[in-house]
Amino acid sequence: MAGAEAIVAAVVASLILSCAAFTEENPTDRRVLVLLEDLAIESTHSLFFKSLSDRGYELDLKLSTDPKLALQRYGEYLYDALVIFSPSVEKLGGSLTSEAVLDFVDSGHDLILAANSTTSQFIRNLAAECGVEFEEDFDSVVIDHLSFDDARDAKDHSLLATKSLIKSKVILGAKEIQAPILYRGIGHVVSPANSLAIKVLTASSSAYSANPNAVLASPPALTGTSIGLVSVVQARNNARILISGSLDMFSDNFINSPVRITGSTERFDKSGNQEFVDELSKWVFHERGHLKAVNLQHHKVGESGEPSMYRITDHLEFSLEIYEWTGKNWQPYQADDVQVEFYMMSPYVLKTLNHNGKGKYETSFQVPDVYGVFQFKVDYKRLGYTTLDLSKQIPVRPSRHNEYERFIKAAYPYYGGAFSMMAGFFVFGIAFLYHK
Ligand SMILES: *[C@@H]1O[C@H](CO)[C@@H](O)[C@H](O)[C@H]1NC(C)=O
Repeated sequence: MAGAEAIVAAVVASLILSCAAFTEENPTDRRVLVLLEDLAIESTHSLFFKSLSDRGYELDLKLSTDPKLALQRYGEYLYDALVIFSPSVEKLGGSLTSEAVLDFVDSGHDLILAANSTTSQFIRNLAAECGVEFEEDFDSVVIDHLSFDDARDAKDHSLLATKSLIKSKVILGAKEIQAPILYRGIGHVVSPANSLAIKVLTASSSAYSANPNAVLASPPALTGTSIGLVSVVQARNNARILISGSLDMFSDNFINSPVRITGSTERFDKSGNQEFVDELSKWVFHERGHLKAVNLQHHKVGESGEPSMYRITDHLEFSLEIYEWTGKNWQPYQADDVQVEFYMMSPYVLKTLNHNGKGKYETSFQVPDVYGVFQFKVDYKRLGYTTLDLSKQIPVRPSRHNEYERFIKAAYPYYGGAFSMMAGFFVFGIAFLYHK
């Protein structure tokens, strides 16, 4: 009996747990698996973990070589997000192959991956699958002789203090980060053809990637602002990925460290790292920048019901509602660049939607003089926001024979021709019959 009760309790607990997970109503992640190379990271990076658990995340810290690791049980994911703080592992424990991690992301879950100068091929491949290529040379780190941290650099100028952040309120929060960010690690490149990956923190123009303990024999492969330090990826399924070439960036040591960029007189008591990693993690775990569109509606002007088809040249009204998740609730989204297409093979109509500040977007337009199966399409992609991709199919029919105008002005010569022909025939008939 007690056994049965325990089973019921376990089922109820797991139901409650799965309700707390990522849902349509609350897109923020809850359950996070953190894989540590070394349990010491739990204390050396405690401020980052504390900030996450203070914000309500359930962190499950595990050794990355733990043989019992699993992301799924009975086909259900046990976590909403994964943090891999294990730069030099050659493989993860349990069932966590790189395919398993990529499947996790492919099914819409989020990932934070941090490397350092001892990064393994396994972690490099994982990053490459996400569209970020780490420096290939295993001994190289990012070096900058002009923007390193003066006080604590180990004379090789590899402790960068940089402020070249992306200007995006949705990714980095509304408050601008004042202090420079401390970074020690490797650089990466993001292919310019990859529109999903965005560099959030870049190296300065004087940076290059090389082995600090060797003489520079040939020009470095990676130089200047093309070196990415921290990048984010938003996949097409809205899974978010953060890739950093520095694990130290998240550490208490860097977070609490004072900074002074070399050559500058400005000194900061605390680096910008805390704000930077907090704001980034808010974005990656969907506390910010998550949109939803609901209530897509259309109808003829002056009517309210949705028709099953339109006639060519009908006037119609189109509306939908867009909300943005703030981490706590859904707020109306406000933007002046949301557009709708009336689409059949190519857009026939493209209209920018007006919004009322309460989340409702609307416009009206005339159906083109072309019939066929059209779609209303809203394809909204903005940096840092989830993609909105909606479509609704609607046929457009030609006018029926009795729906055309009876007489057209331009056709008067033809009407004249027809009637004058009839009158002429009549006159000719009379003349032919009754005059010899
Ligand atoms: C990289 O990170 C691992 C795990 O924390 C650490 O053992 C190693 O010393 C780090 N390498 C460097 C060069 O900091």
